[in-house]
Order: sequence, then structure tokens, then C-alpha cells
Amino acid sequence: MLKDKGIRYGSYPRFTVAVKGQKVTIEFQIPPSCEVAQLVANLVSHLGLKVDERGGGSDVLLRAWDSSVAWQLTLNPLEKQKETGVNEGHSEYRNGDEGDLCILIFRSLISSDKAEIEFIKQGSLNQKELEAFVSALELAGGRFAQSSSLGNKPREGSAQIPAQKSISSLEAMGVRIYGLDAPHQNKPYNEISWDNIAGYDQQKQEIEDTILLALNSPQVYDDIARGTRQKFESNRPRAVLFEGPPGTGKTSCARVIANQAGVPLLYVPLEIVVSKYYGESERLLGQVFSLANQLPDGAIIFLDEVDSFATARGGEIHEATRRILSVLLRQIDGFEQDKKVVVIAATNRKQDLDPALISRFDSMIVFGLPDEHNRQQIAAQYAKHLTESELAELARITNEMSGRDIRDACQQAERSWASKLIRGQATNNKEQPALPPLEEYIRGATNRRQALLSVAEQRNQKPSPRMKKPPLDLLSLQSTAL
Ligand SMILES: Nc1ncnc2c1ncn2[C@@H]1O[C@H](COP(=O)(O)OP(=O)(O)O)[C@@H](O)[C@H]1O
Ligand SMILES: [Mg+2]
Repeated sequence: MLKDKGIRYGSYPRFTVAVKGQKVTIEFQIPPSCEVAQLVANLVSHLGLKVDERGGGSDVLLRAWDSSVAWQLTLNPLEKQKETGVNEGHSEYRNGDEGDLCILIFRSLISSDKAEIEFIKQGSLNQKELEAFVSALELAGGRFAQSSSLGNKPREGSAQIPAQKSISSLEAMGVRIYGLDAPHQNKPYNEISWDNIAGYDQQKQEIEDTILLALNSPQVYDDIARGTRQKFESNRPRAVLFEGPPGTGKTSCARVIANQAGVPLLYVPLEIVVSKYYGESERLLGQVFSLANQLPDGAIIFLDEVDSFATARGGEIHEATRRILSVLLRQIDGFEQDKKVVVIAATNRKQDLDPALISRFDSMIVFGLPDEHNRQQIAAQYAKHLTESELAELARITNEMSGRDIRDACQQAERSWASKLIRGQATNNKEQPALPPLEEYIRGATNRRQALLSVAEQRNQKPSPRMKKPPLDLLSLQSTAL
């Protein structure tokens, strides 16, 4: 049944089934991220009789006992009562041949966040009850509890709200959450890894060194700080800036980090911060930070295109921007040291960023336009059938183009070649699928360059920033603290 419903193995708590005499018992542990009340509501909605009144919920007769070891619930559907119209106290329970479904919820006496649920039934569970059980199991599994790094090791004694709640609130706000799946689980085939980003070895190395290692082995960093500092303070990076022209792989790197960090990455799209309602933007941004802090293992907050809401405070700056910026500054300053919350911000226009914000970043990783060597590697990613010398040729003529431009040029070559094949304008070699030749790519790249130039011309005749070489001083700034 779990398989039929497409519920993946490992996405729900382990359960055991036992037959004792005439009774069948199924039980599983309720992970701390799942609320018992939510579970009961879910069970009632599955087992009860649907009613149209009162907002269309479900009616069920629920009896509950509370003893020192367990809460005991029995759930009796009201079908029989409705049919016969009997309504006199206990006799209304359905006590037919089948026994009642009894649900026991055990609280652990030692720690309040551990609970077990047991379904006991004389005879066997009917279809409806099985469905209810599967749904409870799915709910308890929750997306969040799947993650070994998050669901299974909640911090003791903390008053954090359940992680599942933070996750749902964040999702409801429009924050996209990546990297919740445990590493051992089947990865979707389109999952992004370092292999998808050709070249840029230095940037990858810096990301490993400054972000991933610190997240994966915080104790090494802390031990050093304990040995070196008069007063302990964490030396782990808390804010990192990715800067460089559009299409150079900044957002793609964030997605790789999400898969490798072992903590979720909260991708905050521009739309949710730049809200048209007065005061709403700061509130949302503040909420993202506070929810991230409530996650048991922290999170990475990725603020893409941060320049759109954190430009310099002086001059003509919009009042709303000023307020957002001040929230951002406060939040980056105010992180509790033991929390694993790291901010990564990406920008195409570092020169427009507020200096106070820039000074908060522990390190900066520069994504310049790719050099010829990197361009060849990118070209090889999108035109693997070309020979080395053809790729070198393509790399030569794509100077000053970004990774995205090269990808788009290659895509254009493929489309144009496909239409030629269909129209019979190109000859198809019967033995192997005919693939676009170098000329097609050169044409694609030339068209792409034309398009970029005309965009640049439209913008007041000024060449667009991406068509200029990155200023030299940006390159020398790599990963230096300001
Ligand atoms: N180094 C690269 N290797 C392969 N593809 C790249 C590379 N850089 C960029 N791309 C392509 O360009 C697209 C846009 O890159 P993105 O990460 O969104 O850039 P940015 O966030 O810097 O604007 C990516 O989805 C990818 O297809
Ligand atoms: Mg981007």
C-alpha cells in the first residue's frame, strides 16, 4: 500500500506489525518534529464520517484516557448510530463483530519529546483504517523528519518550536528550501553537483574551504578558536558574498552547497523581500532569520540579488530599502555564535551595495567572466561531441561571455540544427545521430553576442557591465576579509 501510494522507503518511521491472539498491533515512534495533536486530527479526518455542516469536517466518537504511561484513544465511526438513529450514551458505539480500533499514544517518561503510537484492533484493520494508518505514518515521517541530520537529533531541552513548523511557515512565505533529504537517499536524476559547473575550480575550492568544511566539521574550527582567543568566539564564517556578472554560476553554486552542506538552504527569492506593503518586507526578512535560527542544526540563508534591496543608504535611497537594510545588518550581527546559520548573498552590482553591509561579510568569492580555459570547459559541457580543437575555437570566439551566454549559444546551435534536419537542409548521417557541427556553434555564439550588444546599446549606448572585463581590483579581493 505504501508503494502504491508512491511513498518512498525511508520517508516514514519504521513500524512493526504483531499479531497477539486475535489482535493485530501496529506501532511506530512519533518523531519529535510531528505534533501529536496534528496526528489525532489526521486520524479523525480519515476515520470519521464526513459531515457537511461545521465547515465540512469529520465526526468520530473519540474516547480518551490519560494514565501515567499512555494516552489511550478509541475512535469509533458514527455510521451505525446514524443508520439506526440510536442515541443513548454508550450504546451508540459500534460494537459489531469487528472490535473497535484502539489507538494508544505512549509518552516517554524520561523525555517529553518522545512518543509512540500503537494501533490495536481485534480481527484485522479494514481498508479505511489502513488508509488512516498510512496517512498517519506519512504525516509522522514528514518531509523534514526524513533528514538524518535534522530530524533525528533534536537539541535537548531547547524551547524551539518543532522544525516541521518552521519549515512549513517558511514555505508558506515563499522561501524555497533545498537540501532537506538525507545524503543516502535516492537523489533525483537532475540533482546538481560540482560537475554541472564547469571550470571555476578556484571558486569551488574557496566554497569548500570557507563554507562547507566549517559546516561539516565545526569542532575543528572551534578548537582552534579556543586555543587562540583570550575570550572564545567562533571563527566560523557567518556571511559570505558571491559577486560577479550575471550568468557566472553564483546561484548554481548555492544549489550545490544546499546538497552538500548537511543543513537546509533557505533560498529567499527577491519577490518576498521586495514587498509592496509598508513594513511587510522587514517583517518577512526578520521572520526568515528567526525561523532559520529555530531549526535544530541551523541553515544557510541565501539572499539572491541582494543589491536589489540592500543598496547604499545615502542619497536617493527609498525608505523601504533603508529599513530592509537595517534588518539585514542587525541580523548578520546578531547571530548566536553556536548556531549554524550562515548567510550567503549574491550580487551582480557589488559597487551599489551599502558599505556597512559589505563590511559584514567574512569572505567574498568572485565569479568573474570565464577565461579562455574555463570557457573551453563550459563549451565541453554543452557540446561534448566537438573535438578539443573545435572546443578551443569556440572558447576563443566566446570571449567576454558568461557561462549562461555560452550555454544559450550552444542551445541555439542545437535548435537551429534540429530545424535544418527536419527541413532536410542538413544531411543526416544514417549511422549515428547527426549532431550540430562547429559552424553552427560559431553562428550561435555570434548571434548571442549581437543580442548582448544591442541590449547594451539600448541602455544609453553604454556597454553593459557584463561586456566589460571585471575590474582588476575585484580579482585581487578574493576571499579577503574587509
Ligand atoms: N561554469 C558553468 N558551467 C556550466 N554551466 C554554467 C556555468 N556558469 C553558468 N552556467 C549556466 O548558466 C546558468 C545560469 O547560471 P547562474 O548560476 O544562475 O548564474 P548567476 O546566479 O551568477 O547569474 C546555469 O543554470 C548554467 O546552466
Ligand atoms: Mg543568480
